[in-house]
Amino acid sequence: MAGSVLITGANGTLALPAVDHLLKHYPEYTAILTVRDASDDPNTRKLREIILRYPEAKASIQQLDLSNISTVHDFSSTLSADIAAKRTPPLKTIVCNACYWNLVGDPELTDDGYDKTFQVNHISHVALVLRLLDRFTPDGGRIVMFSSEAHEPGRAVLEKIPPSIPDDLDELVKPVAHEDKRGAGFHRYGSSKLATTAWTHALNRYLEKDESLNKITAVAYNPGGLVDSRMFQKNVSSSLYMLMRYAVQPLLPLLKYQNPQMRLGADSGVDAIELALDRVHPGERGYFELLEKAESSPESRDESKQEKLWIKSAEWARISKDNTALRGAFE
Ligand SMILES: NC(=O)c1ccc[n+]([C@@H]2O[C@H](COP(=O)([O-])OP(=O)(O)OC[C@H]3O[C@@H](n4cnc5c(N)ncnc54)[C@H](OP(=O)(O)O)[C@@H]3O)[C@@H](O)[C@H]2O)c1
Repeated sequence: MAGSVLITGANGTLALPAVDHLLKHYPEYTAILTVRDASDDPNTRKLREIILRYPEAKASIQQLDLSNISTVHDFSSTLSADIAAKRTPPLKTIVCNACYWNLVGDPELTDDGYDKTFQVNHISHVALVLRLLDRFTPDGGRIVMFSSEAHEPGRAVLEKIPPSIPDDLDELVKPVAHEDKRGAGFHRYGSSKLATTAWTHALNRYLEKDESLNKITAVAYNPGGLVDSRMFQKNVSSSLYMLMRYAVQPLLPLLKYQNPQMRLGADSGVDAIELALDRVHPGERGYFELLEKAESSPESRDESKQEKLWIKSAEWARISKDNTALRGAFE
């Protein structure tokens, strides 16, 4: 049985070539491509152009702004009803690709009262995944959460303040302003990726225990450092933009020798689809760097932190045993 492939942030740097790879090589799947802005956005236009290359493709573009939790629940309810009514095939994978950061401004609170970086990267994906678990194909599928080297202290060159899961978890959703906006903005991003990585480990534990959901696997995927990412065009200083555009990108062939994790979005887009569709490491769970199974940071593997984060993430995402199939995890 084929099924549906749900991708968030489907007009991003990694996602555009991922969609191209999906439609070209796996046309049997139905692509549900969500974007923050489905109107006349230039990146959504690029997504439309890719779909038009494959006239046989079963693909739709849908608007899903992850900075609003009610919108995420409304989207999940509609998709869930469509799958139940067989208007849309059941899910084979959810690729939680969308991300946000701001390296030049203070923390921004969404209408829900959460830090925007943390809500887009973590909370909304938690809601989406937990709402849709009972809409996977009977033979299961895979959830791809997006991690980054930024989740692990001491690895990312942009890190000034190490990512952490604080004792008071509310600090994650209500971070304080800091005069070093780049350092603090990258800290918010890194901590959101750390939270998502830790949460993925907890999710796998609960999925494995649930007889009706244990064929669904979850992976926290670090796609490598994407030197051509649009992340370096928006909400960053002009000096960082120039460095990436005019030094790092042209030097990529040389830099790759020093750090093989530096690559283009297109390389990771292909890998993400192969991982999502279980074509590589079928049935495996956990943390992956590029396509290698790896060990995530020690803090992300701390089970007591994972559990605290699991409970709090559900609360932030407005998930309870009444609106997820993973009821055992909330009783
Ligand atoms: N780039 C890297 O070096 C790197 C390294 C490690 C991990 N990653 C991870 O890999 C994934 C893909 O990165 P990328 O380089 O492809 O990033 P990207 O080009 O910036 O794409 C991110 C996507 O997220 C969307 N997005 C932002 N805010 C949103 C919102 N409120 N609601 C819905 N969608 C929203 C963006 O849409 P708009 O532009 O319309 O806002 C865009 O389509 C991310 O999870 C990232 O954290 C990237």
